Amino acid sequence: MRKPIIAGNWKMNKTIKEAVEFVNEIKGQVENTEVEVVLCAPATMLKDMKEAAKGSNVKIGAQNMHFEESGAFTGEIAPAMLKEIDVDYVIIGHSERRQYFAETDETVNKKVLKALEVEITPIMCCGETLEERESGKMEEVIKTQIFAGLKDVTAANIPNMVIAYEPIWAIGTGVTATSEQANDAVAFIRTLIKELYTEEVSESIQIQYGGSVKPANVEEIMNQTDIDGALVGGAALKADSFMELVNF
Ligand code: PGA
Repeated sequence: MRKPIIAGNWKMNKTIKEAVEFVNEIKGQVENTEVEVVLCAPATMLKDMKEAAKGSNVKIGAQNMHFEESGAFTGEIAPAMLKEIDVDYVIIGHSERRQYFAETDETVNKKVLKALEVEITPIMCCGETLEERESGKMEEVIKTQIFAGLKDVTAANIPNMVIAYEPIWAIGTGVTATSEQANDAVAFIRTLIKELYTEEVSESIQIQYGGSVKPANVEEIMNQTDIDGALVGGAALKADSFMELVNF
């Protein structure tokens, strides 16, 4: 059985104070949950969030990480810097990073490999644009992203990572993929993993759906056969709403 995983992606929002308050508000409420609860926040607040989350079931994630260990990369955060504060997860290759910060399948792959090496669980994102979907290229696009993103990732490491399927047209738009569209795409990703590795490996990886997930649609999405979780932006910004997602 794969463990359900609900991850908030706060993007460029919140202050340290707000972030710590959020963790303090939810940590008592997730004591007995069977769900993996993750908050992915801006780098400035990760250390304080980790401290606030100590001893609880709340896991903390970064939203990006460089693949080099150190050096002349102004503005970047090194893997060891996240490791130093014991960050649990890191989102890799979110579509906003690909779109606005020129991330490619190649850099995504390097970051995934690095995260696995330093034992921070990567949440590797993939997803097509509306144009790609409407022109029948969805599967081709996803296949390219998955094959390239997983290059040199060993079968043994697949259970140590998460994949998030996030159709770009559904992110922040209020337009959710139908649960059937989301499940079909996630099931397709599982067949790709099977092609690359084995059926057992394909059944072991947690795959999330992301894109306008909210309290009103989370249950239906989580009830799909192949979807193991959600990566959530807008609806993860308020503790009440986030807890409704966790309690789907
Ligand atoms: P959204 O964002 O839930 O606001 O659509 C999802 C994401 O970008 O991960």
